[in-house]
Amino acid sequence: MTTPSLTAPEAFATLADCRAAARALPLADKVRLLTGRSMWHLHALPGIGLRPVTFSDGPVGVRGLGEVEGATSILFPTPSAVAATWDVALAFEVGQAFGREARDHGVDVVLAPQVNLQRTPVGGRHFECFSEDPFLTSAIGVSVASGIQDQGVGACMKHYLANDSETERTTYVSRVGMQALREVYLAPFEDAVRAGVWSVMAAYNGADDGIEAAPMTEHRHLVVDILKDELGFDGVVVSDWEATRTATAAANGGLDLVMPGPGGPWAERLLAAVEAGRVSEREIDDKVARLLLLAHRVGALGAEPAPVTHAADLRALVRRAAASSMVVLRREGVAPWDRPAPTTIALIGANAARPHVLGGGSSTVHPAHVATPAEGLAVRWPDARIVLERGGDPRAFAPRLDVAARGAATLVQRDDAGIELSRTDASSWAGWDKDLHPHARSAELRIRVRLDEPGVHRLSVGTVGAHRIVIDGVEASASEAAVGVDCVLDSSVNNPAGIEVDVAVAEAREIEILATLGVIDAGGYGRFVRAEPRHALPGPTADQEIEAAVEAARAADLAVVVVGTNEESESEGWDRTTLALPGRQDELVARVLDVAPDAVIVINAGAPVLLPWLDRARTVIWAWFPGQEAGHALADVLAGAVEPAGRLPWTLPASADDVPVPHAVPDAGSLSYDDGVHVGYRGWERSGATPAAPFGHGLGWTGWRYDDVAAAPAPDGGVEVDVAVTNTGDREGREVIQVYVEAPAGAHERPVRWLGGFVAVHARPGETVRARVPVARRRLEVWDAEAASWALPNGEYRLRVGRSVRDLRLDTAVRLEAPEPVRRDG
Ligand code: BGC
Repeated sequence: MTTPSLTAPEAFATLADCRAAARALPLADKVRLLTGRSMWHLHALPGIGLRPVTFSDGPVGVRGLGEVEGATSILFPTPSAVAATWDVALAFEVGQAFGREARDHGVDVVLAPQVNLQRTPVGGRHFECFSEDPFLTSAIGVSVASGIQDQGVGACMKHYLANDSETERTTYVSRVGMQALREVYLAPFEDAVRAGVWSVMAAYNGADDGIEAAPMTEHRHLVVDILKDELGFDGVVVSDWEATRTATAAANGGLDLVMPGPGGPWAERLLAAVEAGRVSEREIDDKVARLLLLAHRVGALGAEPAPVTHAADLRALVRRAAASSMVVLRREGVAPWDRPAPTTIALIGANAARPHVLGGGSSTVHPAHVATPAEGLAVRWPDARIVLERGGDPRAFAPRLDVAARGAATLVQRDDAGIELSRTDASSWAGWDKDLHPHARSAELRIRVRLDEPGVHRLSVGTVGAHRIVIDGVEASASEAAVGVDCVLDSSVNNPAGIEVDVAVAEAREIEILATLGVIDAGGYGRFVRAEPRHALPGPTADQEIEAAVEAARAADLAVVVVGTNEESESEGWDRTTLALPGRQDELVARVLDVAPDAVIVINAGAPVLLPWLDRARTVIWAWFPGQEAGHALADVLAGAVEPAGRLPWTLPASADDVPVPHAVPDAGSLSYDDGVHVGYRGWERSGATPAAPFGHGLGWTGWRYDDVAAAPAPDGGVEVDVAVTNTGDREGREVIQVYVEAPAGAHERPVRWLGGFVAVHARPGETVRARVPVARRRLEVWDAEAASWALPNGEYRLRVGRSVRDLRLDTAVRLEAPEPVRRDG
C-alpha cells in the first residue's frame, strides 16, 4: 500500500472523510499514530501533511511544552473561582484566553476543563473542578471549552467518568447507578459533546455502571455505546497520562490515543492484536480518523490554524475574574471600602505573607510574577503603612533552602556498580535533576551550607524512593524502597516528605548535607532524582508570632487576615483528611477578632474549610486560589473598586459531621456512589442539616429584593421563569438569580430541589430589573433506569427563586402534561 498524499483541507473536514483517509494508510503507520511520540507530542505523518499535534495542561492556565527554559504562563483563578462568578460570558473569555496562551506556547490541545463533580469536600482536585452541581459545572465548563475552541485550539474535557476523588486514584472502581450517572456525572460531558468538544480524557479509575465494570480506558459501554454512538462524540478519547494498561481491551473499549509515549501498552502489542484479529482494523481506522479530524481542527493537517482573535489584556482579565469571583460570606457593620482611607494596615496570616495561588499537581503553571496582598494593598493605598505579620506558620515543611545563597553543591552520578559517571556543580539546585546520564542509577547531592545566625536551625531534605539523607553527620532518614511512576501520579514527588534535623549554632559555621538518591524511572514522565533541601532559620515561636499579629491588629485602623490552605493540603494526588484550616489559623483569627472586631477575614482556599469563628467576624470574603494577580484583586475588592459578586458553587459545612459524603476511601477497591443523585447541596437539602453557608450564597456589596415571579412553558419543553428584582443598596451591583426546581411526587427518586437555571443581572441603587431564566427541558427530566430513557413525568413543577438554595424568596409552579404543557402562574 502506498501512502496517500491527502493535503487538501476538504479531505479531513468530517469524520467520514477522515475514515476514508485512514483506510488508505498502512497499518503500521496507523498504529504508531495511536501512541504519543513523547510526553506532550503526537507523531507526525509528513506523507499526508500531518505535523505533530501537541497537548498541555491544564485547568488553571496553559503550562506549555517545557521546551523553553524559564518560559512562563498566565496563571488564572482556580476553576471553582471561575464557576463562582456564575458568569458564562466570563468563562467563555477565560477559555479564549487559554486558547491564546496555547497558541503562544505552541500548544494545540489544552487538557482542560475538568468537569468532574465536587462530590466530597475533601476531594484533592476539588479546586480544579467547577461545582458540586452538574448544571453549573456544565454551564461554566462548556463555556470555557467553547472559548478555547473559538481560538482554534482543542479543549479536552476530563476526566471521563466518575473521577471525583484521589484516594487510590489509579485503581478504584466507582460504582454508580445509571440515574446518577446520567443526571449528574455525565451531564457536563453530554452538554460538551452537544457543543462540539474535540477531545475527552478517559480517567484513571474504573466504573461499574450496572452494565459493565471496567477501567475507564476500557469501558466500551460508557465510551463507545454512550459517548460515541449515542451522544455522537466525533472527537478523540485520550487516556489520562499512564492510565492505559492493556492493548486489546482498551482498543476495543473505545480508547483512541495512549499518552504519553513512546512505548507503552499499545505500539507493537496493538499491532500484534490487529494482526491476530483480536482488534479489527476498522477499530483502528476509526481511531486514526478521529485523530486526523482533531489534527485538522487545530490546524495540524490540511489547513492552517485558525487565527487567534482574543486580544484583551490577560493580566487585566485575570485580575477582574479573580476580584469578581470572590464571595462575600458575611457583611455586617461598615464595609471596608466605606471606611476612611486607612493610615495603618495590619496584614496578617501565612497566606498574606505567601498567598497560595494554585493547587498542587498537574494543573501547575509558572507565572512570571505573583502579586502578593502586600503589593496589592501598597498600590491601592500608597500612603498607608502596611505591617505584615505572619502569625505562625501552618506549613509542616520549612521553606526551600536557597543553596546558592548559603553555599555550594555538587552532584555525582553513579552507575549500577557505583562507578562515577559525572560530577557537576549543583549550586543552582532547584530540587530536581531530570537530565541524567543514561546509565545513572544513583546520585549523591553534597551541599555545603553556611549557618551564620545563632540559634536552632531546622534542616531537612524531602525526597521519595530509595535514599539516605545525612545532615551535619546525623542520618535523618534512609530507605531502600524504590518508586516509579506512582510517585508522580500520587503527587508525593511534588511536595516530598523529609525528616528534620535541628542544628544548634552558637557561632557561624558550615555544615554538610549529603543526599544519596536512587534514580527514579517514571515511565513517560522520564528519569530523575529528586531532593528538596529545606531550611528554617532560628526565629520567633508560633506563640510570639501570633502575639505580634494581635498587637499589629490592635494598633492598625484596618486589619486584614488572610488564612487558607497551602501546597501541603490541597493537591491532586490525595484527598484531605480534615476540613480544618492547617496549623493554628483558627486561633489566630479568633485572637485578632478579640481586639479588632472589624478585621476583614479573607479565605485563600479552593475547597471548603471549617470556619469556627465565622459568626463573630463582620466581613468575611472567600478569595479562592486567585491566580497571579491575587494581591491586586484583593485590593480592588477591599477598596470597593470591584464588587466581589461571587456565589458559592458548593456548600460550606459548619461541621464535618454534616457533610453528606465526608470521605472517598474505597472499600476493597470499590467506591460506592450510594448518595445517588443527592450530590452536594442536594444531600444537605435531604438531611436538613444547616451549613455555614449554603450553595449559591454570596452577599456582594449591595442588597436585593425579590419582587415577583411568573413561569410559563418554553418551546423546548422546559420552562421560562420571569423574575423582577430590585437593588436595595446604595451602590450598583450584580445579582445571580437562581431558580430551583421541585418535582411532583412520583415513582422516581428525585432530589428535594435542584438548580434548574440562573441568570445574572446588574442594577443601579433603587433600580428594578426583570430577567428571564430558562430552565431547559433536560433539567426537568429524570433518567428512567428501567426504560433506559429520559422521562418528563406529568404534574406540577414548583419553581423556587432566590439568592441561594437556602434563601428562596419567590415561588411559582408550572403544570407539565404530555404532550402539551399547560401554563399556571403562581
Ligand atoms: C492528570 C491529568 C493531566 C495529566 C497530564 C494526570 O495525572 O490526572 O489531569 O492532564 O496528568 O499532566
